[in-house]
Amino acid sequence: MASRRATRALQSSFKQLSAPTVQRRTFVSAINAAKAGAAAAPRAAVTVPFQQKRGVKTIDFAGQKEKVFEREDWPREKLLDYFKDDTLALIGYGSQGHGQGLNLRDNGLNVIIGVRKNGASWKEAQQDGWIPGTNLFDIDEAISKSTIVMNLLSDAAQSETWPAIKPQLTKGKTLYFSHGFSPVFKDLTKVDVPKDIDVILVAPKGSGRTVRSLFREGRGINSSIAVFQDVTGKAEEKAIALGVAVGSGYLYKTTFEKEVFSDLYGERGCLMGGIHGMFLAQYEVLRERGHSPSEAFNETVEEATQSLYPLIGANGMDYMYAACSTTARRGAIDWSKRFKDNLKPLFEELYESVATGKETQRSLEFNSRPDYREAYEKEMADIQGLEIWRAGKAVRGLRPENQK
Ligand SMILES: NC(=O)c1ccc[n+]([C@@H]2O[C@H](COP(=O)([O-])OP(=O)(O)OC[C@H]3O[C@@H](n4cnc5c(N)ncnc54)[C@H](OP(=O)(O)O)[C@@H]3O)[C@@H](O)[C@H]2O)c1
Repeated sequence: MASRRATRALQSSFKQLSAPTVQRRTFVSAINAAKAGAAAAPRAAVTVPFQQKRGVKTIDFAGQKEKVFEREDWPREKLLDYFKDDTLALIGYGSQGHGQGLNLRDNGLNVIIGVRKNGASWKEAQQDGWIPGTNLFDIDEAISKSTIVMNLLSDAAQSETWPAIKPQLTKGKTLYFSHGFSPVFKDLTKVDVPKDIDVILVAPKGSGRTVRSLFREGRGINSSIAVFQDVTGKAEEKAIALGVAVGSGYLYKTTFEKEVFSDLYGERGCLMGGIHGMFLAQYEVLRERGHSPSEAFNETVEEATQSLYPLIGANGMDYMYAACSTTARRGAIDWSKRFKDNLKPLFEELYESVATGKETQRSLEFNSRPDYREAYEKEMADIQGLEIWRAGKAVRGLRPENQK
């Protein structure tokens, strides 16, 4: 979430730099301004006091200055020249492997895929046009041909395969991750990187499918970049260039540790686990108080995802408040404080669980089991079977685009 907010702030900043005289502040002020023919107040939260040279922009995000790199500084010709002597071996072809791999290929870089022969990924890679013996190999062969090893196996598999992969990471190669998980929690994962190679990270802030779709739209996903080990003195530059090559639009500098802590925390919190828990709690109370499934679902999920959350995404929380009734605003402002106060201890507990490695331990244990796919599918079937999501299916079925 933070990164999306940051993007918006960044985009606002660039707009401010490149001209804008007026920006819409809120839904209501925009309407009022339009009515009155007057200009709405500009956004106050984001200010750009100065502009640095291209390539190293320091942007003021609500009072804190951060470094941001952008795609425009790495046009295709520059990328091709920069990586002209490199072979990029992308190991693993899940969601990120698919998105990053196809973007690298479309950018014209020398990229090959390494996956288990005849596994699900092997077949998927072939379906995407990767050719066995040409640019599709088993993992060991791909690594042996490469200068840059992009480890996009599942995090559990990175740990499992490390004893076989580590000896192949010889001096001169670069090791790339899209998550800080393996090296940061090395006491648990056993991924202790060789001391004589560059180790870098590009972590797209979204699914691999979005990495691909935004690239195809000519935009680019936000990604975090970080350096774990810089042997050549070029590690950061390489991370930025690779970030652009895999399809990022803006790149935000962080550390491996901060990336993995915030990512594990966010997905367990507001992004996935927390929001699912809030939906369930609200729905259950409505049902226990006699409301129908459709009313409970509409008031909990449908209005959120279809009406209000997109407003937050487009222009911020104040914009969403401004689009709602005075009654709704009063109650929401009051109750948001109570929710925050009650939930903050839980978020503290969650962060602690991430920082101490408890979440990593659980993830490694669960996802390394031979039957992890079946166990996961059973949990998904349980979720699908919950009344709230069955009611949701019926509500979505009424949308015009879902009617035959
Ligand atoms: N998905 C996201 O939204 C996202 C976003 C940002 C960063 N990341 C990071 O990107 C990395 C890749 O994640 P992902 O979601 O793309 O992939 P994933 O679904 O977690 O992993 C899939 C790949 O791992 C391979 N694999 C699993 N077990 C293996 C084993 N024992 N030996 C060899 N290969 C094995 C699979 O091959 P088979 O088909 O042969 O089983 C498949 O190619 C992770 O570090 C993740 O944290 C993911």
